[in-house]
Amino acid sequence: MAGLTEVSAPVGVFDSGVGGLSVLREIRRELPGVVYLYVADQAHVPYGPRPLAEVRAFSEEIVRYLLTRGARLIVVACNAASAGALHHLREVFPAVPFVGMEPAVKPAAESTRSGKVGVLATPATFQGALFASVVERFANGVELFTHTCPGLVAQIEEGNLEGPKARAILEGALHPMLAEGIDTVVLGCTHYPFVIPLIQQIVGPGVRVIDPAPAVARQVRRVLAEAAPDVVAAASAGNSAPVRLVTSGDPVRFSEVVPLLLGEPWPAGQVRWTAAGRLEDARV
Ligand code: DGL
Repeated sequence: MAGLTEVSAPVGVFDSGVGGLSVLREIRRELPGVVYLYVADQAHVPYGPRPLAEVRAFSEEIVRYLLTRGARLIVVACNAASAGALHHLREVFPAVPFVGMEPAVKPAAESTRSGKVGVLATPATFQGALFASVVERFANGVELFTHTCPGLVAQIEEGNLEGPKARAILEGALHPMLAEGIDTVVLGCTHYPFVIPLIQQIVGPGVRVIDPAPAVARQVRRVLAEAAPDVVAAASAGNSAPVRLVTSGDPVRFSEVVPLLLGEPWPAGQVRWTAAGRLEDARV
């Protein structure tokens, strides 16, 4: 499996688990010819309930790993890691361009008519200074209703996108918001776009659900075109490159869940955390 990471990958993407694949899917639509290396830190999923300092330490080491694999741009495809680590990562790796996630409060505030918007994210994202700053800059008098959807990330990690548990969690989060009159829902966790059909069923067609991934993918294209124009030029000439996935969890299980999420099989390799807190390829 170590072969999966042997070829250098100019764009590195990471998340606590499968969530960032909702972002990678859009990036790949935008730039299909680029080689991506995706790290799922499933040894530590979920990140959401963890202290931000811990999420920061994991993120820093994952970035270090991706840089040794040739990354010239890194996508923090995780709201919790963006909230906990993005600022820190830019300080520690000043020469590396990063694209991170932030809850899409801005487009929601611009388009809501009722002036009431629901935001679904994990506790880490709501705790971070990033969310506070997004609200301060963009909420503009719009009333926000937040919910952390405990247990939803675990359901999605298992590929349970429509089951009774996922439905119960989402109904518990969304029904009170609907009663308040929200007309927009912002997905502030990259796992949640995989349950958009279920969310849309619960909220009905009159409520807009915002997945930030397409906007993030366009941002990746802009930043990559500036930071590594040769990569974009080479990618435009070629066909879809294979995606390289690695997990710090169980690669067999990961490979089973990926087709449930993306509709296509992408084989996964394995990385492991050492006792010293380093991330390295697992020799199998
Ligand atoms: N997908 C992640 C996010 O966007 C993390 C979810 C988790 O691990 O709790 O926040």
